[in-house]
Amino acid sequence: MTLIGAAERAAMRGLLDSVNESLGAPPAPVWEAAYWAVPRHAFLPETVWLGDDLAECSREAAPETWLRHAYADTPVVTQVNDGRPAEPEDRWASSSASAPSIVFRMLDMLDVTAGQSVLEIGTGTGWNAGLLAQRLAPERVTTIEVDPELSARAAVRLGSVGLEPRVICGDGAFGYEEGGRYDRVIATCSVRSIPPAWIAQTKPGGVILAPWESPWFCYGLVRLTVDGYGGASGTFSPHSAFMLMRGQRTDLRIYRDVLRDEHVPAESSTRLSPWAVSGDDWAAQFAVGLQLGDVWRTWHDNPDVRGVASRLWLATTDARSWAAVDWDGKRSDRFTVWEHGPRRLWESVEAGYVWWRDAGRPGPERFGLTVTAEGAHVPWLDTSDNPVPDLT
Ligand SMILES: C[S@@+](CC[C@H](N)C(=O)[O-])C[C@H]1O[C@@H](n2cnc3c(N)ncnc32)[C@H](O)[C@@H]1O
Repeated sequence: MTLIGAAERAAMRGLLDSVNESLGAPPAPVWEAAYWAVPRHAFLPETVWLGDDLAECSREAAPETWLRHAYADTPVVTQVNDGRPAEPEDRWASSSASAPSIVFRMLDMLDVTAGQSVLEIGTGTGWNAGLLAQRLAPERVTTIEVDPELSARAAVRLGSVGLEPRVICGDGAFGYEEGGRYDRVIATCSVRSIPPAWIAQTKPGGVILAPWESPWFCYGLVRLTVDGYGGASGTFSPHSAFMLMRGQRTDLRIYRDVLRDEHVPAESSTRLSPWAVSGDDWAAQFAVGLQLGDVWRTWHDNPDVRGVASRLWLATTDARSWAAVDWDGKRSDRFTVWEHGPRRLWESVEAGYVWWRDAGRPGPERFGLTVTAEGAHVPWLDTSDNPVPDLT
């Protein structure tokens, strides 16, 4: 069993206060009991990566910094670049221990009771699986991790706190059929669509909880109830930024994969600021992303183009259609638009934004999603008979 020393105990107490502050309430007593039995620091690797620049921090070299981050209410990156060596400037996070407040919020939303079974997608460090196993009993918990090294390490760490849930190494998109049907499926990586296996492997009336991501924007949690006829339906709630499930990742670059010399784009102008749909308004981005489905975007500041200070690029995930919206650095009521391909993407973005604005600028909590038995994903506003415009 892992020993909790005085420093760890003090840090653990501090984190409970932070979670309380962030969620407006402490974790429920059952989860707090699990928290003390499954200390987060016991699940972190010796080396973690911190901050926006993913600076390496080793426990041996900086034990106090390492412990402080183990009990800060922030995610701790535990693997970069899928475990491959990378120069510091090329690092990107491929696994992390999620921020404790989102962990407890999701566990609360999962609404499990004793005797229920849970499938977790994205074992990562194993901490969340440990909390579930402590709460429900290890034999009630199955957790899947796609990365063999992470999976193996998580199993060892779970064992070190005396827990042995079923730890599977594989692609969580397929669930784990051998585990029977689960009362709850929780993903700790984000998805752009709900894999059919998750619905098939959840009992009628059971719940699927997953971070949601459109190619436009990663934001929102979706909580679906499975109907027993092959479909599921439920609502979104705000918050969350998780790493995308491997298998749903796209690695597209405008200059490498989309633009071609022979493209001759159509020129027009718009009064809608690109920052309205790709700036600080998370509700707008969430709503536009739900309607656009397969459109992604990226900013290019100071492109090497005369008269352009900033440019928003848009493209479809099949890379066939693209658009660019230019700001000249002066006017905020007129922007130049370039569009190429079978779809007029900026026109769609404008339509999606206007629909959202006219609907009263609803936040994610007013949206829901129905996944039909055939696998169609139908997002809606307020009620399931009010689908959002399909601008795909
Ligand atoms: C945010 S981390 C999970 C945090 C974890 N629950 C914890 O308590 O530490 C997301 C994890 O999902 C894993 N993942 C990504 N795609 C996956 C897939 N297709 N199947 C299973 N795991 C996947 C990643 O390798 C990563 O470890």
